[in-house]
Amino acid sequence: MIINAYNAIQYRKTYEYKLLEHGYSENDTGFLKKHFDEHRLDYLLEKNADERIVLLLKDDYFIFDNLDRYLALWDDEKRELREIVAMVNANTDRDFYSDVESAFVDIDNRYLILVNKFYQLPEDFKPDEKEAISSMYAYANRVIDASIYDEFKSMWHAADQEDLTLIVQSAFRSFEAQKNIHNSFLASHGREATERFSARAGHSEHQLGFALDITTPGYGLTQAFEETDEFKWLKENAHKFGFILRYPKDAEHITGYLYEPWHYRYVGEEVAAYIYQNSITFDEYYAYYLK
Ligand code: DAL
Ligand code: ZN
Repeated sequence: MIINAYNAIQYRKTYEYKLLEHGYSENDTGFLKKHFDEHRLDYLLEKNADERIVLLLKDDYFIFDNLDRYLALWDDEKRELREIVAMVNANTDRDFYSDVESAFVDIDNRYLILVNKFYQLPEDFKPDEKEAISSMYAYANRVIDASIYDEFKSMWHAADQEDLTLIVQSAFRSFEAQKNIHNSFLASHGREATERFSARAGHSEHQLGFALDITTPGYGLTQAFEETDEFKWLKENAHKFGFILRYPKDAEHITGYLYEPWHYRYVGEEVAAYIYQNSITFDEYYAYYLK
C-alpha cells in the first residue's frame, strides 16, 4: 500500500504523466519523450498542448529554436507544414532585406557560403583566384573562381558527349558590377519586379565566383530555356559535378527569387547530391546543417 502511494507520487513527476495531463495523446507523449531533452519538454509544457507542435516536430528539418516562428507563420499563411518549416528556416517569415547579417565568409569550406536576401557579402569580397573561362564554354570575358573551373569543364564535356551545347552567359560579378546591373534593372523594370529576379549589391552569389548562368545558344536567360534538352540534362546531372539549381520553380517564398532554370551554384558534389535528392533549397540546407 505504502509502496503504491509512493510510486504514484513518483509517477506524477515523470514527463509521461505531465505530457498526458497536459493534453498530449499517448502516442505523442512517447514521441516527445523519445526525441526531446528535459529542457525542451519543459518548454513544451509551458505552452498549450497543440497537435500542430507534434506535426512540426516530426518534419525532417524542424529546428527547435524556430518553434514559435513556425506557429506564428502557420497562423498567418495557408500553406503545407513542409512549406512553413522551409520558409522559417530560410528566414522568409521576415521581410526580405530585414535583419541582414554578414555572410559567414570565414567558413572552412568556402563553397558553402550562404548569400541571399538576409546574408550580405562585404563589398571587397572576391574569389581567392579568378580564371577567365575559355570562349569554348562561355561568351567573351567571363570569369570564374579558378578552383571550380575543372569541375565546370567536366560538366560541360559530359553534356557535349550527349550532343548538348552549354554556354556560360554570366559568371563572377563584382559588388560594383552587381550594383550597376541592379540599378539598370530598377530603371527599366521598377523596384517591385526587379527585386524578384535581381539581387542587390553584396547579395548576389555571382560575387562569390561560384555561380554560373548557363544557357544554350538562342535562349539567353529566359524561362524558355526550361524547354531545352540542355536544361533537362543540367537538372538531372549538375549535382554530379557539384552544382545545384539554386532558384527552383515555385520556390520564390523560400529563395526570394523567381524560377531561374539557368542559375547554377557550386556547393561541392556531396552537398549538391543531398540537395538534389531531398529537393530542398540551399537556404534551408544552410539553416539546418551549417548554421
Ligand atoms: N539573379 C540572381 C538572383 C542574382 O542577381 O544574383
Ligand atoms: Zn545567376
